[in-house]
Amino acid sequence: MKVHQRVGVWAMVVSLTLSGLAYGAELSKTASEAGPWSQPLLLGAHRGGGDEWPENTVLAFSEAAKAFPSILLEGDLQLTQDGEVIVLHDSTVDRTTNGKGPVNGFTLAALKQLDAGYHFTTDNGATFPYRGKGVTIPTFDEVLAVATSNRILFELKDGEGLVEKVVPIIQKHGAAERLLIASFKPELMAAFRTALPDVATCYDMPGALALLTALRLGNLDTYTPTDKMLSIPKRYAVQFALTAGEIGRVKEKGVLVQVHTLNTPEEIAHYVALGVDSILSDVPSLLAKELAKP
Ligand code: G3P
Ligand code: CA
Repeated sequence: MKVHQRVGVWAMVVSLTLSGLAYGAELSKTASEAGPWSQPLLLGAHRGGGDEWPENTVLAFSEAAKAFPSILLEGDLQLTQDGEVIVLHDSTVDRTTNGKGPVNGFTLAALKQLDAGYHFTTDNGATFPYRGKGVTIPTFDEVLAVATSNRILFELKDGEGLVEKVVPIIQKHGAAERLLIASFKPELMAAFRTALPDVATCYDMPGALALLTALRLGNLDTYTPTDKMLSIPKRYAVQFALTAGEIGRVKEKGVLVQVHTLNTPEEIAHYVALGVDSILSDVPSLLAKELAKP
């Protein structure tokens, strides 16, 4: 799904909000289940906590997990030119490394020459504490090798054959039960659900539209959830103006509600008060501090 299509689907969702459609008062039965996703989940590290450590690196994931053993680790998956699954958000290496060019123009060996800590700074460029320290773009395999017990949320970004490459890595690490998979590309989600139907997934855009339409039309009682988590970007959460009552109704269907990416005390407090299950932040230590407040 292209960016304009993505925005279009969410715009439809938002327009449903603005249309003032009433929802019914009848609530569906609470879905309950055991397992990793039934445990408290609020604390989440977006890209491993990219404002505290170089994003999407083994350093970030391992430091976040060390500091917060129960933290949900979020990262992004795509393929190298030679078909290796790596953890990187952007489609180019420009912003996060000392290299330039599209990710799929690099072999894994070539990517490993790049410094993934090169641009990281916490003082607006006065210092670059991880520059030249051997921080590299990791493979998915390397990240799963250090994040051995955390719940993890990985987003399928791009790449022909990405799902086929990701599946055996998940199986090798026995990570299926503690894994959530997300993607803005419905075709990747469909392929993944077929390949590993028991792995929890986040709603893609069409699925989210169906859920939120049922919510706003008052049809949730006859709606059957298709995914484990509704993960909402902050800008759409603001536009959609979900209420605590609506979040509660979605949760009663057994769907976890996540908002991302929250990096200020005010917005964290706002969504905690609304009752979301999960928050992703680039600053996990700030999120942890805010969550610890009575
Ligand atoms: O699950 C939500 C998360 O993947 C969003 O992160 O930065 O890739 O849009 P981002
Ligand atoms: Ca992501």
